[in-house]
Amino acid sequence: MEQYAIKGGSPLVGEVEIGGAKNAALPILAAALMSDETVYIDNVPEVSDIEILLDGMKNIGVSVKKKGRHFVTINGGNVTSIEAIDDNLKKIRGSYYLVGALLGKYKEAVVTLPGGCDIGFRAIDQHIKGFKALGADIRIESGVIKAYAKKLVGSHIYMDVVSVGATINVMMASVLAEGTTIIDNAAKEPHVVDLANFLNSMGANIKGAGTDVIRIKGVERLHGTEYTIIPDQIEAGTFMFAAAITKGDVMVKNVIPKHLESISAKLLEIGCEVEEADDCVRVVASKPLKPTHVKTLPYPGFPTDMQPQITVALALSQGISIVTETLFENRFKYVDELTRMGGNIKVEGNTAIIEGVEKFSGAGITAPDLRAGAALVMAALAADGFSTVDDIKYIRRGYEDFHIKLQGLGAQIALVDSERELRKFKMKIG
Ligand code: EPU
Repeated sequence: MEQYAIKGGSPLVGEVEIGGAKNAALPILAAALMSDETVYIDNVPEVSDIEILLDGMKNIGVSVKKKGRHFVTINGGNVTSIEAIDDNLKKIRGSYYLVGALLGKYKEAVVTLPGGCDIGFRAIDQHIKGFKALGADIRIESGVIKAYAKKLVGSHIYMDVVSVGATINVMMASVLAEGTTIIDNAAKEPHVVDLANFLNSMGANIKGAGTDVIRIKGVERLHGTEYTIIPDQIEAGTFMFAAAITKGDVMVKNVIPKHLESISAKLLEIGCEVEEADDCVRVVASKPLKPTHVKTLPYPGFPTDMQPQITVALALSQGISIVTETLFENRFKYVDELTRMGGNIKVEGNTAIIEGVEKFSGAGITAPDLRAGAALVMAALAADGFSTVDDIKYIRRGYEDFHIKLQGLGAQIALVDSERELRKFKMKIG
């Protein structure tokens, strides 16, 4: 079974190029089927969640062509079925964007209920509330969500919780509806804005994305477009924290620094230097890390998808820190693994109390989910000695070439697939 083999203890130094945002690409690719004309999308990350969504789209007759690693053309002119049901789609969260896209275009959708990382209970009541407000009938049967409407009519929808997925899904379902839809208490994440920009480039009429209130005036049809997906905020943040965790000096390139403000602010607070330029951010960790308190919040707050990475950094700081997770109740599963590496962390409910230690020690660890997996790799890179990280399939869901990018920063990390390869790696690094 594939795993990462890691020899820790050296700082990461150098430059790393950030790819397109997975969580923007998922809804944008799904929304592309809403036009009968060809849509050209660039900066699509090559990660497994995206591959699964694209395969699911092909299975319902969407023409999907990859040209190069990051350029995809989509044509939804010959969709043969509104039923997107397969075992793979079940594994990813983004599959539910097919409900918004198909319902919006064909007024009907039958889609496997989404899975995604096991980070806690992940309700979809706000998606359903939004679809119903637009006039759809929604049923959930045998793990499948069925949506049907004679016609969709704009409505005023107040979201009871700020939800990225529900905001995006309702936006997609309403772009071709009759009249105006208002989404109140909308999510403001950069990927919500990116989807709105993409849909507007296809002829939609969406205003206010990035604020609490999004207004969508229904249009008759969507046309083809060319679009480039924004850089991945969380991939960028992960490498920024990799600099802090390994006491390194990393230039993170091809980013939108505005999207990284909450991450940069915490890095400054814990004693790193952060230099911003137009499209890159440099993080230098030359002093011992200081403790801090952090609470995950919807954008522009500190992202839940960066919670494991900051926890790993704080576990190596000089003092006591508190991390509160307010979005997902099961997002501290990796703490057991960190404890096995020498971390001193106590989890009480949705709070981790962290007493910083001087060093981690290498161990055989397992990635419990995507972001925690990446954070544990970084812990191993900072640890004394040798580690292996299992279940790297989770990391592949959202990080393209993770170990190769880390190697580019001087990390001693290899992807190994057998005992023999593992021995070879150990011999090589000594
Ligand atoms: N919620 C509800 N009802 C709903 C929808 C959400 O109560 O109908 C709650 C959730 O239980 C959670 C909170 O609202 O407590 C936020 O959930 P949200 O809907 O915003 O999350 P999501 O759409 O399921 C996306 C990302 C996650 C990221 C969250 C928060 C995708 C495919 N997934 O999930 O990304 O953590 O937003 O920013 O975009 C990841 O990339 O590792 C990842 C888990």
